[in-house]
Amino acid sequence: MRQFSNAMPDRSGGKVLPPNITRREFLYYVWAGSMILAMGGSAAAAALFAMPRWSRTRFKHFLIPFYTLPQNGDPPMLYAPMRGEPEIWLVNREDKLYAHANICTHLACRCLRWNESAKIFACPAHGTQYAADGSARGGPAPRGLDRYEYSLVNHAQEEIANTHKGEPLNLTHYANVAEVQIYPDRLILGMPRPY
Ligand code: FES
Repeated sequence: MRQFSNAMPDRSGGKVLPPNITRREFLYYVWAGSMILAMGGSAAAAALFAMPRWSRTRFKHFLIPFYTLPQNGDPPMLYAPMRGEPEIWLVNREDKLYAHANICTHLACRCLRWNESAKIFACPAHGTQYAADGSARGGPAPRGLDRYEYSLVNHAQEEIANTHKGEPLNLTHYANVAEVQIYPDRLILGMPRPY
C-alpha cells in the first residue's frame, strides 16, 4: 500500500533548510522580541532615573574654611569650586549643616535656585521644589536632594566628626572646627518623596 507523509518534499538538493515556521509563529516571535526589548529598556530607564547623578571630579575633597559657612537661618550658599566640578549648596538650619548637590533629582538639571521669600530651592526645568533640608516638596522629582558626605576637621587637619550616614552635623556640638572637608565623590541618596 502506498504510504503518505506530511513531510515536505526536499528540494534543497541536500542543503539544510531553516525550520518551517508559520506566519502566525513568526509574528509571535517578533512580538515577543519587541516586548522583551521594551521591558528591558523600561527597566534600564527606571534604574537610571532612580540612581543618583554621580559627578565626575578630580578631587578627593574640598576644604571650606569654617568661618565662611552660612550661619543659622542665612540664605544657602552655593559653593562652586571650579568649572566642571560638582557645585554644592551649603545650608545651615538650626545649626545643622547640609551639603546638597546642585542637581535636581528629577532629570539632573544643575540649575537649582534658592527663593529666599518662599524659603525653597526651585528647579526651573519642570518645577520641582525642595525645602532647605533638601526634602522634595512638590513637582516631579522622586526624592529629595542628594547630599555629599563631609567631615569637620581641626587646625591639625584631624577629623572631628563625619556625616557617614548622611545626617547633618550640628555645628554647635563641636569645638575647634577649622574647616569643612566635603567629599565630592561620596554622594548620599536623597530621601524618597512621601506620596
Ligand atoms: S529637572 Fe528639575 S524638575 Fe525636572
